[in-house]
Amino acid sequence: MILKHMEFLFVLQYFIPLITPEVAVEKELKNFQCSLYSSKAMNCSWLPANQTADDLQLYYWYPGESHKTACSDYKPRASEKIGCRLRGDFLEHDVYFLFNGTLNGLSVQKTFRVCPVHYVKPPAPRVKITEEGKDLLLSWDPPDLAAHHCWVYILNYSMCRESLSKEIQYKYDNVAVYVPYDLRCQYRVQVKAVYKKSCGAGGSDWSDVELYGVEDLNFDWLMTVFAILIPAAVGLFILLCLCCFMKHREKLFPKIPQPSLILKDMLNSNKEQKSFVGNLYVPAVEEMECKISLEKDSTLLLMQPDP
Ligand SMILES: *[C@@H]1O[C@H](CO)[C@@H](O)[C@H](O)[C@H]1NC(C)=O
Ligand SMILES: *[C@@H]1O[C@H](CO)[C@@H](O)[C@H](O)[C@H]1NC(C)=O
Ligand SMILES: *[C@@H]1O[C@H](CO)[C@@H](O)[C@H](O)[C@H]1NC(C)=O
Ligand SMILES: *[C@@H]1O[C@H](CO)[C@@H](O)[C@H](O)[C@H]1NC(C)=O
Repeated sequence: MILKHMEFLFVLQYFIPLITPEVAVEKELKNFQCSLYSSKAMNCSWLPANQTADDLQLYYWYPGESHKTACSDYKPRASEKIGCRLRGDFLEHDVYFLFNGTLNGLSVQKTFRVCPVHYVKPPAPRVKITEEGKDLLLSWDPPDLAAHHCWVYILNYSMCRESLSKEIQYKYDNVAVYVPYDLRCQYRVQVKAVYKKSCGAGGSDWSDVELYGVEDLNFDWLMTVFAILIPAAVGLFILLCLCCFMKHREKLFPKIPQPSLILKDMLNSNKEQKSFVGNLYVPAVEEMECKISLEKDSTLLLMQPDP
């Protein structure tokens, strides 16, 4: 059963063979599958392994009907018939199918019964994204198939490094979801419609990814830049401060003598400075601040030339 792996394409595993066909034919037609893609239309297909489709015909009818409708819209592949497009009220009724004719030189007559609501597969929704105030409005039209209460939507979206998945149920004509809009992020939105178990089975494929917003700035790249820029800026700042300080040292320390002298006459010079500074600057508070910074810096300066 190759097709068992295909999402939402349901191999009809429980068809009811009313007539026992030859084994070869059974094998050929096992891939028979249908998908109900709108309320009035269904595709059925069979992918014969190696069919020389001589004059195989497909008929269909509702249970209880005696009139069989011949498929009028075959989907051909090369000279083979590989599918049929049917029109009818398939949401309400089961459908019988009959293959007859010859297949690979053998006479074929095989009947299936299909319950279309178990093979629902509408086209994927199309997501629209619009900006509304500080939010993004994500919206899409519900499938043109069955009542709105039969649908639930899986909404996946990602923004910057965050990924979210939500299940959404709406009774109204339009499905709309608001998400807060972060201008720094690009939004990637995908939706899929899932047909509820209470109504049948099936669902759409994932929609195309809809994008909104500027492309994310590459985070790693930004981190690298910051890792280089910030220390560089800090280093430059310190360097500038030092240069500035050195340049204006004379102004800041008008009476600073040679470092050796300071070492010798630490106490004396301190006293002199105090008195000198006191004479120059009148406000007491300022004087204190100035003194503190001066003492600190002078020690720094003194220590630098040594190593
Ligand atoms: C059904 O067949 C039509 C015509 O080939 C095609 O456009 C459509 O995609 C098919 N739908 C599904 C669900 O296979
Ligand atoms: C498929 O059919 C061709 C001729 O129609 C035949 O030669 C070939 O052996 C067949 N292959 C299989 C796998 O049956
Ligand atoms: C196939 O079945 C249809 C409907 O029952 C019938 O009209 C037709 O004659 C049959 N064809 C063959 C080749 O058996
Ligand atoms: C949607 O989100 C779910 C949960 O995060 C995840 O498992 C799934 O792969 C996502 N699907 C797609 C198509 O991104």
